[in-house]
Amino acid sequence: MAEFEPKIVAFVCNWCTYAGADLTGTSRIKYASNVRIIRFPCTGRIDYMLLLKSFDEGADGIIVSGCHPNDCHYTSGNFHARRRWIMFRSLCDFIGIDTERIKFSWVSAAEGAKWADIVNSTVASIRAKGPYTDYKKVAKYPEKEVNHG
Ligand code: FES
Repeated sequence: MAEFEPKIVAFVCNWCTYAGADLTGTSRIKYASNVRIIRFPCTGRIDYMLLLKSFDEGADGIIVSGCHPNDCHYTSGNFHARRRWIMFRSLCDFIGIDTERIKFSWVSAAEGAKWADIVNSTVASIRAKGPYTDYKKVAKYPEKEVNHG
């Protein structure tokens, strides 16, 4: 039987992680081909509802990656992204979405090898978890009821 090949969507910022991923290629560092990269100007621009949309469209895992703290091209977009991620993760935990399938990282334009490591480790962990078939169940029938008082 063929090994499960996870579909990974990576939301990356243009200035650091995208350039780092480009360096991975130009350095001829081999890494898993399971990732589809979506480039944004900055992690601060990423709408986290797109993460849910990705799961809805069949992604098994997600990477969000941008510039290291204090290196953002727009000064503080990555800090906004990190703060929003903390809130969004709590919401995901509350409604039962598997947040271990979402990897948040910082990769600079000089870290091609780090990008390869992040992709490879994410693919390995998602492969071990299997396809995210439960997402649609969770999205349509949340296990936890909201108490309106
Ligand atoms: Fe890279 Fe803002 S430009 S995180």
